Amino acid sequence: MKWIKEIVLKFGLILFGIAVYNTIWTLTNTREKVEYEPIHNLHFDNTVLKNFDQKKLEEVIAEMKETKTKLERLEEKFQNLSARVQKPYPDIKYLNYHNKKRILVTGGGGFVGSHLVDRLMYEGHEVTVVDNFFTGVKYNIEHWIGHNNFEIIHQDIVNPLFVEVDEIYHLASPASPPHYMFNPVKTIKTNTIGTINMLGLAKRVGAKILIASTSEVYGDPEVHPQPETYWGHVNPIGPRACYDEGKRVSETLSYAYAKQEKVSVRVARIFNTYGPRMNLKDGRVVSNFILQALKNETLTVYGNGKQTRSFQYVSDLVDGLIALMNSNYTMPVNLGNPQEHTITEFAVIIRKLVGGNNKIEMVNAVEDDPQRRKPDITRAVTFLNWKPKVPLKIGLEKTIKYFKEELIRQHIHPII
Ligand SMILES: NC(=O)c1ccc[n+]([C@@H]2O[C@H](COP(=O)([O-])OP(=O)(O)OC[C@H]3O[C@@H](n4cnc5c(N)ncnc54)[C@H](O)[C@@H]3O)[C@@H](O)[C@H]2O)c1
Repeated sequence: MKWIKEIVLKFGLILFGIAVYNTIWTLTNTREKVEYEPIHNLHFDNTVLKNFDQKKLEEVIAEMKETKTKLERLEEKFQNLSARVQKPYPDIKYLNYHNKKRILVTGGGGFVGSHLVDRLMYEGHEVTVVDNFFTGVKYNIEHWIGHNNFEIIHQDIVNPLFVEVDEIYHLASPASPPHYMFNPVKTIKTNTIGTINMLGLAKRVGAKILIASTSEVYGDPEVHPQPETYWGHVNPIGPRACYDEGKRVSETLSYAYAKQEKVSVRVARIFNTYGPRMNLKDGRVVSNFILQALKNETLTVYGNGKQTRSFQYVSDLVDGLIALMNSNYTMPVNLGNPQEHTITEFAVIIRKLVGGNNKIEMVNAVEDDPQRRKPDITRAVTFLNWKPKVPLKIGLEKTIKYFKEELIRQHIHPII
């Protein structure tokens, strides 16, 4: 029986040992979990998360600033590069050596001149522009800068010019009243000394020359419509005389050079012309009305509004100038659109096309403002087979579109 007692005692001891081990193990593990894990984790998460947010935010902000600077530098580099990259030129015709002419356009940076330059370039000729950029801008002809067929000479035509050319289109002269009245003496010099310089050049190099004269040589006409045979009605000491008389002398000089020096001359008497690239601030009827309509201002009509004008679109004029240069006709030729409107009618037409409902107001008449203007274009039709083609509505729509774009480009946003 003793051995049975010993076995039970030993078995009891083993069981006790297991129980103690279990208790210790459970206690140890439980303590570890309760005391260490949850508390540690909680503590870690809070501080790291806090530190992480603060630091990360600062890092992200710094990174964004750096990226912004990098982007700005890239943008600048891109702009510099794109300025250096050659833009494609408009397509031009190929002309062989015999048909290609060297043509000088004085005043080629101006409204009419730049359209003429475009046409001559498209035809494949070599074109040289001379301009002092008094009223013209390089922007009008910048699409040709660098082209093999194109050259600009920044010069005042009152100073002599030495170039070798076959034809000269002499357009350099301020054309709108505020511009030619700005410096009347200079206007006279440009149309007299400047014209002598160009006629002298034509004589020296044997070039044909076309002079851009004006309907202003008829003054305030007593004959209506005005044929080229009409001698005009000009006030020689009025505010417009610097231009009117300047152009009359220009014509006189041309025929003197033709008679005495055998220079081949063409004289275009240009009537009011409008179209894209007109100087926005030239103070003439079309530009004034379009600007006022676009800015939703009152349309101002000088005088009673019954005075008439006829306006031709610039592409028609360019056709006429080239036809005249290429013809054998040497007497003055009127280039204009005989469709006549009163100034008030123009105001109404432009207001309607722009789409506003502006007031039209009559203000004091301008001194020496011609009452009627309408070309007799029989000569142009007979000798040049030319007549204007572009209807007023189409031409005005194109001009209004240009004015809107130009106002935006110059950061003067149109209201309509
Ligand atoms: N636009 C018209 O309705 C109209 C009507 C009749 C006649 N014209 C004649 O057509 C020609 C062109 O007129 P536009 O409307 O294009 O005028 P514009 O003022 O837009 O262009 C004249 C150009 O001649 C330049 N110029 C002026 N004086 C100069 C000088 N001393 N030296 C060099 N360049 C000079 C100007 O900078 C400008 O580029 C002018 O001779 C003008 O008398 C125009």
